[in-house]
Amino acid sequence: MKISVVLLFLFFPIFLTLSSAVPSSSSPSVNNSTCPVDLNYVLRLPWNSSACQNFHPSDSVDDTRRSDCCGTLLSLIGIGLARRLKQTSMFNLPDLRTSNSCLHDFQSKLSSLSLPDYLTSFCFDLLQLVVSPDVCVKIQTIPDWIAKLGQTMPLNQGCKPDLTDLTLCGACMSAGFQVQKELTGIDGNSSHARNCFRFAILYAAGIVNEFGPESNGAMTCIFGISVYPSVDSSGNGRHQALVFGLTGASVADFGLAVNGR
Ligand SMILES: *[C@@H]1O[C@H](CO)[C@@H](O)[C@H](O)[C@H]1NC(C)=O
Ligand SMILES: *[C@@H]1O[C@H](CO)[C@@H](O)[C@H](O)[C@H]1NC(C)=O
Ligand SMILES: *[C@@H]1O[C@H](CO)[C@@H](O)[C@H](O)[C@H]1NC(C)=O
Ligand SMILES: *[C@@H]1O[C@H](CO)[C@@H](O)[C@H](O)[C@H]1NC(C)=O
Repeated sequence: MKISVVLLFLFFPIFLTLSSAVPSSSSPSVNNSTCPVDLNYVLRLPWNSSACQNFHPSDSVDDTRRSDCCGTLLSLIGIGLARRLKQTSMFNLPDLRTSNSCLHDFQSKLSSLSLPDYLTSFCFDLLQLVVSPDVCVKIQTIPDWIAKLGQTMPLNQGCKPDLTDLTLCGACMSAGFQVQKELTGIDGNSSHARNCFRFAILYAAGIVNEFGPESNGAMTCIFGISVYPSVDSSGNGRHQALVFGLTGASVADFGLAVNGR
């Protein structure tokens, strides 16, 4: 039985527009430090890198960052950030130097997968992953998050189970939208909607899901990453391409709704 449910909710724009909040620059003069995120999973997990194999940047920075490749990379580094969120309670990296070194490490992994050497410089803004109060309702840590939203959210229930189940994934996804809506409402600045969504994704994957951000369910559903079927499953319908994503078209729609208020 081969189920191929590809609900492609172009999740990419979400993370992406975080970048438009900060000035764009690719200055290499930032000092290096050590990246606190172990990115070896980039080599280990069966993510589908085909969108990045023939990457061609657009003339527009925004269009480039909205490309499938850049979207995939933002989700992919989100796996590490979600794990780190659980460890440190911080939604982003502490400073520019740290972020720079993580992007550098990330690029090294990508390059060792024979992907182009310039991907991170096209896909990421240097400040994109750096902690700041000006991202989503001044949330920088888990205690901030709880102070804004409380504990009893549908996200805490809906994103907990194995999200390779399509129905469960749908429930998690709608809980994610609900949280985003709530946060963006509190924030009042509609240009933060996508940032708030990104935080919802990190929270769902890093804190809520009991299988963790590297699980197949979290990767496919919460991050919307396309993965290759696992080799060991013996054709029992387990390997569905479940590209759902707490992201995407619906978020774009929601963004419009927010902007229209
Ligand atoms: C909304 O957020 C953007 C990006 O962070 C910022 O540039 C802008 O000044 C904010 N607008 C208001 C009204 O605070
Ligand atoms: C990098 O760090 C060194 C020492 O840690 C310092 O002397 C140098 O000025 C720094 N460079 C930049 C560009 O910050
Ligand atoms: C520092 O970063 C630059 C570019 O970001 C890289 O080429 C260099 O190898 C890094 N150095 C170390 C020690 O990581
Ligand atoms: C990998 O992604 C490409 C598009 O980027 C798609 O055409 C292909 O079917 C995907 N492969 C798998 C196994 O999902």
